[in-house]
Amino acid sequence: MPHLKVKPFDSTVIAQSLVKSKMMTLQAKSLTSDDELIGVEHSGEEFLLQLKPDNKATLLKYDKVTRPLKVNLLKEALAAVSDELGLDILSSNIALSPTKPTLSSEYFKKIEDFENITFPKAKVSVEVGFGSGRHLLYQAEKHPDTLFIGLEIHTPSAQQVLKQIELQNIDNIWVVNYDARLFLEMLPSNICEQIFVHFPVPWDKKPHRRVISPSFLDESMRVLGKGGRLELRTDSDKYFWYSLETFFSVPKVEVEVRKNEALEVTSKYEARWKRQEKDIYDVYVKCTEQSPEKKLALDFNFNIVKYRNNLEKDLPKKALVFDGYFVHFERIFKTEDERLLIKCAFGSFDRPEHKYILLDKTSCRYFVSPPVKTAVNYEAHKKIMELLNV
Ligand SMILES: C[S@@+](CC[C@H](N)C(=O)[O-])C[C@H]1O[C@@H](n2cnc3c(N)ncnc32)[C@H](O)[C@@H]1O
Repeated sequence: MPHLKVKPFDSTVIAQSLVKSKMMTLQAKSLTSDDELIGVEHSGEEFLLQLKPDNKATLLKYDKVTRPLKVNLLKEALAAVSDELGLDILSSNIALSPTKPTLSSEYFKKIEDFENITFPKAKVSVEVGFGSGRHLLYQAEKHPDTLFIGLEIHTPSAQQVLKQIELQNIDNIWVVNYDARLFLEMLPSNICEQIFVHFPVPWDKKPHRRVISPSFLDESMRVLGKGGRLELRTDSDKYFWYSLETFFSVPKVEVEVRKNEALEVTSKYEARWKRQEKDIYDVYVKCTEQSPEKKLALDFNFNIVKYRNNLEKDLPKKALVFDGYFVHFERIFKTEDERLLIKCAFGSFDRPEHKYILLDKTSCRYFVSPPVKTAVNYEAHKKIMELLNV
């Protein structure tokens, strides 16, 4: 990830530069170390850069929580900030790489886009963890009347498929670079025909990271229309049995199981197992009833919350665990003009949300964008409001 190593410098130059800076918006110092954050606005995006001083060199780098998707934006911001501050660069890895495909295609959707989105096709299907995208691209070509939403957490795979969408002139795939386990909550009820989960990572040692879980089953049944199917394909017999157990844990379910069924398209991953003559299992779970509409009216504003003197001293230092969620104020930064920037982890234990919260004497907001609108994040948000409002 892009960073610069610069000669140690007196960070008061940042405060002086902020006034006339073209892109720096704030400077906040950690309350517990020498680390600092610099707020940046560049090409319509707002994000943070981190300063980590050391005796020999200061590291100026990206901040994981607010990182923009386009790496080149980060590199440009690092270069511009170091230029504005007149820093002495010792080493750098921020050469721009203009040929790299970006995630800027109209077929790339951010999770927030789904808060208010119009689906361009009458039918919708979802593929979880599409990897090389072979199955996703095949399905999209075969069913031009269906929108295929492909979810993939591995960014280079998402980029590759976006490139293919462009090359093959496909208009019925949306790529979402996000965790599928959270994503389904963003979809309206009864909208899907199929949810494909092909060769999910088995996570035998960390089962809490598996895609298939009771809550994923619940959400799948909500977003599938009556007659729609959740389709799992796996080469792992452990995962197969685990999934069957999960699917049969609900009071009423219709499940179909197949072994070594040949599909019309074979992914690279599947081809490898076939060469090794491994068994492959399909489990289809049918949705047998319509679900009630889901209301996404979760309000992540902080309303009356604002900074009051010494608030930072009263905030809990350790993670607080509640029924089904947690809240942890991990780090606190403060600006010269008494604004707090709190790095906070919260929400579900398996899929925590990480956000900064910016408080000043008149207002409070998530910096730079609100959390994903899931029920568990909302519970955590209400608790955060309570904790900040002491
Ligand atoms: C073993 S590969 C299978 C890829 C593809 N389905 C195939 O059959 O070749 C699993 C893929 O799922 C993706 N993945 C894992 N967990 C995910 C999650 N929670 N949400 C979205 N994608 C995920 C991984 O990045 C990886 O590309």
